[in-house]
Amino acid sequence: MCGIVGFIGNEEAAPILLEGLSRLEYRGYDSAGIAVYGPEDGLKVVKAKGRLQVLSDIVSGGKTIHGTLGLGHTRWATHGEPSDINSHPHVSQDGRIAVVHNGIIENYVEIKEFLQSRGVHFASQTDTEVVAQLLEYYYSKGEHTPEALLDAVVKVLHRIDGAYALGILSADCPDRLIAVRKDSPLILGYGKNFRFLASDVTAVIKYTREVSYLDDGDIAVLTADGVQVYDSLLQPVAKEHSHVDWEISAAEKGGYEHFMAKEIMEQPKAFRDTVFPRIQAGRVVLDDLRIAPDDLEDMDKLYIIACGSSYHVGMAAKYTLEKILRKPVEVTLASEFRYCDPIVTEKTLALVISQSGETIDTLAAMREAKRLGARVLSIVNVVGSTIARESDDVLYTWAGPEIAVATTKAYSTQLAVVYLIGLYFADLMGTIEPAEYKAVVAELLLIPTKIEAILNNRKDIQYFASIYFNHPSVFFIGRNIDYAVGLEGSLKLKEISYIHSEGYAAGELKHGTISLIEPGTLVVALASYGKLFEKTMSNMVEVKSRGADVLGVTVESRRKDIDKTADHSIAIPDTHPMLLPSLEVVPMQLFAYYVALQRGCDIDKPRNLAKSVTVE
Ligand code: F6R
Repeated sequence: MCGIVGFIGNEEAAPILLEGLSRLEYRGYDSAGIAVYGPEDGLKVVKAKGRLQVLSDIVSGGKTIHGTLGLGHTRWATHGEPSDINSHPHVSQDGRIAVVHNGIIENYVEIKEFLQSRGVHFASQTDTEVVAQLLEYYYSKGEHTPEALLDAVVKVLHRIDGAYALGILSADCPDRLIAVRKDSPLILGYGKNFRFLASDVTAVIKYTREVSYLDDGDIAVLTADGVQVYDSLLQPVAKEHSHVDWEISAAEKGGYEHFMAKEIMEQPKAFRDTVFPRIQAGRVVLDDLRIAPDDLEDMDKLYIIACGSSYHVGMAAKYTLEKILRKPVEVTLASEFRYCDPIVTEKTLALVISQSGETIDTLAAMREAKRLGARVLSIVNVVGSTIARESDDVLYTWAGPEIAVATTKAYSTQLAVVYLIGLYFADLMGTIEPAEYKAVVAELLLIPTKIEAILNNRKDIQYFASIYFNHPSVFFIGRNIDYAVGLEGSLKLKEISYIHSEGYAAGELKHGTISLIEPGTLVVALASYGKLFEKTMSNMVEVKSRGADVLGVTVESRRKDIDKTADHSIAIPDTHPMLLPSLEVVPMQLFAYYVALQRGCDIDKPRNLAKSVTVE
């Protein structure tokens, strides 16, 4: 989704804004722009459709635009096609106020009509432009003082509905930037004689590690050496500072061709960092959880809420948690949960899963679950994100920054946390045999080494990708946890290679979908789950006899069996059945990656996609 960066200090702003925007490219965008104010040139705005490089070339890397405060933006189009005009920043009619925005102004049509009836001319098709024009409308009525600007901002906020993170610059108050947040993330960065506002910390980490997170309703006024935050009634609000402790190299490619490749390869480390500190003397220790055994005994239902790949983790979690907790586990898409009148009580535990911690559907569903009385436990990767802050309990996945749009290491570490929660709860409730508990914990500690073994054999998967990269249609079939992993394998493939693909419960094929199987269809058959191996084998035979090419995926001990039917096979190391998804997903990620590579796709920034989906 859109990325925002704003800078105010003593140095030239433009190169810093471009650098910050380059760090936000991963979020997904189709155009970019900057606005810089300098005493000689006044407010200058440059924007361009396409990659950030296009903009950077226009301003010679920022050398041709002078001033020490400015705003930058990468736009992911919602209202109005991707174009130079629709790119941000948007300026007021008098050219003196610039605005960047992430989110959607829902009532923009009504405001636009109101302003047009008063003679305001709009340049773009965007919802955002109404903010710039409305600001001018209110501001031009009074003195051109900083207080009047703040007053105009408050008036605008009372008038607009929707979700927004806003950065505001006025040529009449060139010693300050204003930042506003409602339902769309925004952070502040603090340095010696400079301040930042940004969509996320990756934009500022090169310059500062001191940040604070704006809350909904906050209005921040930034000067080069100070920040004052207010609430919507302009009462001062104190903001805690947080220290970001990951290295900038974590958000760089480090010699890999793509972030996705780097992040796939980082999975053993990410898994270790997430799991090992939470296992002490053979026991899962979740000191950060404040859920008592009685709460668990009373729990009527575990409701898993997430989107996309995080939802697929939830699917795998359902099979696992229901089995070892003997409690009903429901898993639902956040975008559905929001509006389905869900049955939630004070005894329900909502398990919310999100890498970014900012996905708007997940956030809204979480708030709804809370409103209905549920206790919320979240699994989140981005420290300080809104979902993490609003949860009753949060367990972080220590995956480090995930830059590629297609998630890999976040998925793996989310799964890891699901296992920890399952073991921990089952132990508290006494629903797991001590020997079983010990066996799973022991295996859990071996997972990173087993992932390494799969990664070391990635050439095999690259070879299969070179055979199958031109298949027009790919099905991923499996049962139970294999089905859950198949859903993720299918999403990985389609999102980065643009090949049509479906994840399907193997037993469900014959109820309609098998009619799509014809010579040339590729079926990736996942059959690692021992109990259902033969059943999935039968489904493989069914598709094979209808002409499909079959790529089988199983554990090493069953490889010779799957080879009797599959055209090619991938074998993962044997492990405890509960942990199979952690190994099985890795070849799926590699397969998608190598297919997309073979097809020349823009792997880290697939078309139409955004890393963090902050609009509904
Ligand atoms: C797919 C992918 C998305 C996200 C989804 C939820 O590779 O990354 O499907 O999983 O948008 O995002 P988070 O986990 O940030 O809530």
